[in-house]
Amino acid sequence: MLLLSPSLLSADLGMLSEETLRLQSAGIPWVHWDVMDGRYVPNITLGAGVIRSVRERAQEIFFDVHLMIEEPERHVDSFIEAGANLIVIHPESTRHPHRCVEHIRSANILSGISLNPHQDPRMIEYLLPYVDVILIMGVNPGFSGQRFIESTIAKVEQLSQLITASCCEVRIEVDGGVNIDNIPQLYTAGAEIFVSGSSFFNGTEKTVEAYRKRYQEFEAGCVMQK
Ligand code: DX5
Ligand code: ZN
Repeated sequence: MLLLSPSLLSADLGMLSEETLRLQSAGIPWVHWDVMDGRYVPNITLGAGVIRSVRERAQEIFFDVHLMIEEPERHVDSFIEAGANLIVIHPESTRHPHRCVEHIRSANILSGISLNPHQDPRMIEYLLPYVDVILIMGVNPGFSGQRFIESTIAKVEQLSQLITASCCEVRIEVDGGVNIDNIPQLYTAGAEIFVSGSSFFNGTEKTVEAYRKRYQEFEAGCVMQK
């Protein structure tokens, strides 16, 4: 499986519905929402209200919601109601990550946990049966357009082995600094879902055709590597 999840943080923020509809029309399966609260990370982005209003217009595309907020357990229900299909939290943002991911799953959507660059995959070994996705950060969370941290590739490999040994059905997603050059290596290491902000949107004309073409370029890079 190979999935691209463009991060709307690098899209035209004044045109979020239009941008999402263009991605949907271009046949892109997922779209990535970066929710930041100015506390867990320095930046503030958007909340459940914005996601809900885009969901009213774009009903088919999968909403991959990445919560970079403190105490996500206080807000997950509003993101579920807004139309999220997957909610990813950071383990240290809550006292009880297990309870939080179980709660997300109980709403019949996918749950995920994210690891920052310094974090060892073994720290979430006991969460594997309770999540659908592990999101490995390729940069420190907070901003788009940062440089990819190379050790992420070895970490994806290590996590992939851990998942295989656990026999759990968990997909690896990589977020931050992902581009056409490192996707093939990440794919070979075991990642299947790729978030891309600046390298997907930058320099791309904002049309359905341009987004379709960009998506095909990303896919082709992985197929060649396979
Ligand atoms: C960083 C966010 C990412 C970011 C990706 O905190 O989680 O999703 O928008 O942007 P690029 O691809 O530009 O690193
Ligand atoms: Zn993200």
